[in-house]
Amino acid sequence: MAIRFSLYYHSKENGEYLQKTINSSRQAMLVETQSLENLPPRVNSGTDVVFLEYQEEDAKLDRWIEKTAADPKSPSIFLFLHEITTNSLWKALRLGVKECFAFPIRLEEFQEAVDRLPRPDTNPDLTETTRVVSFLGSKGGVGNTFLTANVAHLVAQEQKGQVLVVDLDLRYGQLIYFFDARPKYTIIDVIENFERIDSSYLQSLFHPCDKNLSILPAPARMEEAEAVTGEHLEKILRYLKNLRIFRWILLDCCHQMDEVTLKALELSDDILLVTNPSIPALSNAKKLLELLHLLDLGGIRSEVILNSWQKRGDLGEAEVVGFLGREVNSKITFDPLQVGRSINEGRPLGEMAPRHPVCQDLKTIASRLLGDDSSRGNGSLGWIKRLVRK
Ligand SMILES: Nc1ncnc2c1ncn2[C@@H]1O[C@H](COP(=O)(O)OP(=O)(O)OP(=O)(O)O)[C@@H](O)[C@H]1O
Ligand SMILES: [Mg+2]
Repeated sequence: MAIRFSLYYHSKENGEYLQKTINSSRQAMLVETQSLENLPPRVNSGTDVVFLEYQEEDAKLDRWIEKTAADPKSPSIFLFLHEITTNSLWKALRLGVKECFAFPIRLEEFQEAVDRLPRPDTNPDLTETTRVVSFLGSKGGVGNTFLTANVAHLVAQEQKGQVLVVDLDLRYGQLIYFFDARPKYTIIDVIENFERIDSSYLQSLFHPCDKNLSILPAPARMEEAEAVTGEHLEKILRYLKNLRIFRWILLDCCHQMDEVTLKALELSDDILLVTNPSIPALSNAKKLLELLHLLDLGGIRSEVILNSWQKRGDLGEAEVVGFLGREVNSKITFDPLQVGRSINEGRPLGEMAPRHPVCQDLKTIASRLLGDDSSRGNGSLGWIKRLVRK
């Protein structure tokens, strides 16, 4: 989960230096950079740390620091001092500052300071339960990753809680490209360190994409995929559910029904089956619906999402519904140009083209995940009834 920094600098040069320092940390995310002259009376509530280039003999700044540090709801304060002396450290301590740095800042030391910070939203009393949602493509290339990434982004944009996306396409995982992310760690690091993991350490392995959005990438190398088992996934998901840090965990599942995919489905609250309106994809979707029925995943809600939908396509909606033997819950418009651009630039549509019809369609899925909690726990009943009726 991202630790959000607001930076206030005196000289532009130091501002750039501190910006680089912040960006070097795996969890830190810069949400604001301003000259010290623009320091607001109260920092915005989306900030976890205020990093100030400290100015000696500035009584107004000292009063600001003291007042901010005294408020338990305020962000932590980091100072960049021009020189660290015993006096300056005593003063910083008295003012309630969390960490002090001077040039040159050792990046490992900065990372350690970030690791020492209290984690936001880790109090189980403050966070609601975690909803695990599996996106399952009926076959390769139906748009599963595009939908997972974009719905995750739209849900995170609503700021109703933290969202984690886990790339379970373990061999070919491409999720990182949909966010133009360059993560340092993958699911392999989580598995290798699982026994000595605590909440902060675990969170430091996730890659923050946005204020409320983190990703856990698939292994970087194809052969590492073998190292991930269903048991690993179960441990990770149960641990995360217990921590209640994430309000939503979205899983970009592999379309092969292997051990890891089956475990993902079993541990999900919702399964979103993604298909397109082509006979091969629909035929797979039908088989998958039958398999899910056989597995009898009681209590799990499922939806069918028809991606790449064209009103004047070869198959009409009635034909698709007739073929699948169940209703289609969402249709996502076909637009190769806009979708391709979003994927290639690594910018979700919610940011790139929020009014675009594809984005509007995606919002209907996101809003069901955001608001539709009433159906949790008994959602599968309706679905099973529909299957029985066919
Ligand atoms: N609504 C859409 N309209 C047009 N093209 C789309 C749409 N959704 C996805 N695509 C295209 O489908 C292709 C595959 O998308 P994506 O990688 O998300 O599929 P996938 O099911 O995750 O594939 P894989 O099996 O390789 O993981 C992309 O090139 C994308 O441009
Ligand atoms: Mg994919």
